[in-house]
Amino acid sequence: MKFFIDTADLAQIKEANDLGILDGVTTNPSLMAKVGIKGEAAVTNHYKTIAEMVNGDVSAEVVSTEFKEIVEEGKKLHAIHPNIVVKVPMIKDGIKALKWFSDNGIKTNCTLVFSAGQAILAAKAGANYVSPFIGRIDDSNWDGVELIAQIAQIYAVQGYETEILAASIRSALHIVKCAEAGADVITSPLEPILGLLKHPLTDIGLAKFLADAKAFK
Ligand code: E4P
Repeated sequence: MKFFIDTADLAQIKEANDLGILDGVTTNPSLMAKVGIKGEAAVTNHYKTIAEMVNGDVSAEVVSTEFKEIVEEGKKLHAIHPNIVVKVPMIKDGIKALKWFSDNGIKTNCTLVFSAGQAILAAKAGANYVSPFIGRIDDSNWDGVELIAQIAQIYAVQGYETEILAASIRSALHIVKCAEAGADVITSPLEPILGLLKHPLTDIGLAKFLADAKAFK
């Protein structure tokens, strides 16, 4: 399973990248706004900086909702750097645009996916990644991880090549459950990724080993 970080914060991307386990980055307009990136030139520049930092796919989201505009915006995003993947929302014109990008060799990530039916459409349209938002599904009293398992089963039965990118991750446990359910990728904020490191018995065991090591120094 690949690890992407879900942020536009350069310090956090660097920290995850320095761990040596980072395979890519996802962003969205809210994450860009959170780090104060405004205006086309600043947005383009920020995507370029991120794409140059990591050796892997970097999702950059379109903010258009009409087919022609999505395609034009996507072409511009694609031109920024070879690592850029065009992130397209799960809407009717988005599906048409996913097919166009797929036919024209531009990698895509279909975002804002909340059902198996939407995931089937994204795969049919040739999306490289499909992003079910599991945390937001949990928030609405459904089981986000269950959706990952359902999509994984459908894609396996049907032979779809679209990768399942579990998004809206809220905890280290989410990451473990997504690995179990068959996600190809998780995209997570830094904290849940670092949360995977933690176990109290590791801390207790290490403290003892270090204390005992002092005895024979
Ligand atoms: C996915 O690509 C989205 O950027 C993200 O995972 C959304 O997460 P949130 O529900 O925490 O905003």
